[in-house]
Amino acid sequence: KNIAIIMGGYSSEYKISLKSGSVVYDYLDKEKFNAFPIHIYKDRWVYVDSNQKEHKINKDNFTVKVANETVAFHCVFNAIHGTPGEDGLMQAYFELLGIPQTSCNYYQAALTFNKRDLLSVLKPYGIKSAPSFYMNLGDIFDADQIIETVGLPCFVKANKAGSSFGISKVYKKEDLPKAIENAFKEDDEILIESFLEGTEVSVGVITYKGKTKVLPITEIVTDNDFFDYEAKYQGKSQEITPARLTAVQQQKVIESAKKAYEVLKMKGFSRSEFIFLDDEPFMLEMNTTPGLTKESILPQQANKAGISLSQLFESAVWEALG
Ligand code: DAL
Ligand code: MG
Repeated sequence: KNIAIIMGGYSSEYKISLKSGSVVYDYLDKEKFNAFPIHIYKDRWVYVDSNQKEHKINKDNFTVKVANETVAFHCVFNAIHGTPGEDGLMQAYFELLGIPQTSCNYYQAALTFNKRDLLSVLKPYGIKSAPSFYMNLGDIFDADQIIETVGLPCFVKANKAGSSFGISKVYKKEDLPKAIENAFKEDDEILIESFLEGTEVSVGVITYKGKTKVLPITEIVTDNDFFDYEAKYQGKSQEITPARLTAVQQQKVIESAKKAYEVLKMKGFSRSEFIFLDDEPFMLEMNTTPGLTKESILPQQANKAGISLSQLFESAVWEALG
């Protein structure tokens, strides 16, 4: 089977994605699959061979000509974080072409990538989230009104972005405009949320051997003020799996994460973030192409569940192929 591992992407997360993609390439069993690293950039889509030579992808049918032979793909392994791989664009393209893919479908990707929409869809199902204030680029805002809604400190974030790009924690009203400006660099919509002080956890939910499986939960203890880019990728955090939760907390967060996955009829990988206020988990977001780098959380969780990276990636391919 020919597997296209797509990586890169158009967002600030492209470097993380290149690392995720190379981990997938390294661990996908070469006896069973012919894996092709495919880099998706704004200016070109290319298969990058082992000599780093680039071969242009034919976007009409997602094939590539290598040494005069046309290679078509049986399955796409999606390792792109952010647009266009996590927000439904690539998903829609592969759905149109009828090529199976490891990630969820275009609608689930678009919905989950939009933090505001995801959280509001899940709310009636009992999945709680922080009070928030939503803004579009160009909206006139009143700092007092925002702070009345969300309090201080608060988090200002891009509504559709990952890896903490564009996020700031704001302590003082005077710092709000700068934080808003910063978040608008990543997206044309932003979300300002109340700061929830409590244990932060990350819950991986995947489809494994045909069933929804919740992986061991990870607790995030950051050395920084919050779990920012540096904490995520430059070792400024400790990730403790399994998380040190009470039995009640554990049961509630598993229930919420699983419910979210099932309500949205998800497939493939997902990793949701929650913060506890006492025993209650509050959802922050869901990632549908979670990081697969050495520093990333989902691979650590799979490991704790006794699933090797090779098994994890292979199962994703078989699930996609049906
Ligand atoms: N957005 C990053 C890659 C993650 O969720 O792991
Ligand atoms: Mg994220």
